[in-house]
Amino acid sequence: MVATDLAEEILELKRERNAVILAHNYQVREIQELADYVGDSLGLSYHAAKTDADVIAFCGVHFMGETAKIVNPTKTVVIPDMDAGCSLSDSCPPTQLAAFLDANAAKNYYVIAYINCSAGVKALSDVIVTSGNATRIVEAAPADRNILFVPDQNLGSWVMEQTGRKMDLWRGNCYVHIEFTRASIGRIREAYPDAKVVAHPECTYAVRLLADEVCSTEKMISYCRDTAADAFIIVTESGMLHRLRREIPDKTFIPGPTDACACADCRYMKMNTLEKLHDGLLNLSPEIVIPEDIRARAALPIRRMLELSR
Ligand code: 13P
Ligand code: SF4
Repeated sequence: MVATDLAEEILELKRERNAVILAHNYQVREIQELADYVGDSLGLSYHAAKTDADVIAFCGVHFMGETAKIVNPTKTVVIPDMDAGCSLSDSCPPTQLAAFLDANAAKNYYVIAYINCSAGVKALSDVIVTSGNATRIVEAAPADRNILFVPDQNLGSWVMEQTGRKMDLWRGNCYVHIEFTRASIGRIREAYPDAKVVAHPECTYAVRLLADEVCSTEKMISYCRDTAADAFIIVTESGMLHRLRREIPDKTFIPGPTDACACADCRYMKMNTLEKLHDGLLNLSPEIVIPEDIRARAALPIRRMLELSR
């Protein structure tokens, strides 16, 4: 089947199912072009929370589909590929977090979890953050509590730099963003001296230091649109470039390289294809299912986040 026929079939299935297609900024171009909404984790959470569709086809990774299901227990949430996980989420298994909290009960931690984590970790947390609202939410955390920030130590240390609030950090990271290095970004900056460097906060401190702006994927759109520069070096997953080029066609976007390649793909995000999205809507599978006790507990910190960042 050629791509346009497949896209037509997906749109037809979407109508039949009364479905909405939500896609993260890192998805392949064909999926971004077909989606009802494309955005960052925060925008996607708001869209998932307010949709009146019966089915949510979530084109992103597993924890994103889970988040949609947590706030929509009565809806069917399908994802194109059940194996589309996340190295960052995997770096903090709920059993390890529970054991750590038990062993450190005297600290009475206020647990702040980056949304890139499993439902089980969300269920152990007090509030969720995304890269788009982390600073604001950490600033609102109770002043008399010790904070444990999980699972991304790079985002956590960036938030500490921004807010001055001390936090204990889980030692997780994103395997894509830690591939950018001071050397690889330093070289591309020298090659394009007039370009602004825009980096995701999951990058290491050494890379963040080279950036003109550190922000969520959604904020990258407004920053590049509103900043008086013609060229930008984008230091995040390669899918981001599709959206930037589509929405800001008159500017130049240069993929930030790693030491090994010219740009960075997340192997999990790239597991999703139009074919799998089609089959997901046709079969209503693979479907996200979460035990109700975990879902109900995980909904509390997500709701708190949505209220705090409104
Ligand atoms: P954003 O919320 O900024 O889109 O980031 C999600 C993500 O997975 C980054 O690797
Ligand atoms: Fe997870 Fe990194 Fe992929 Fe984002 S880019 S989904 S943090 S592995």
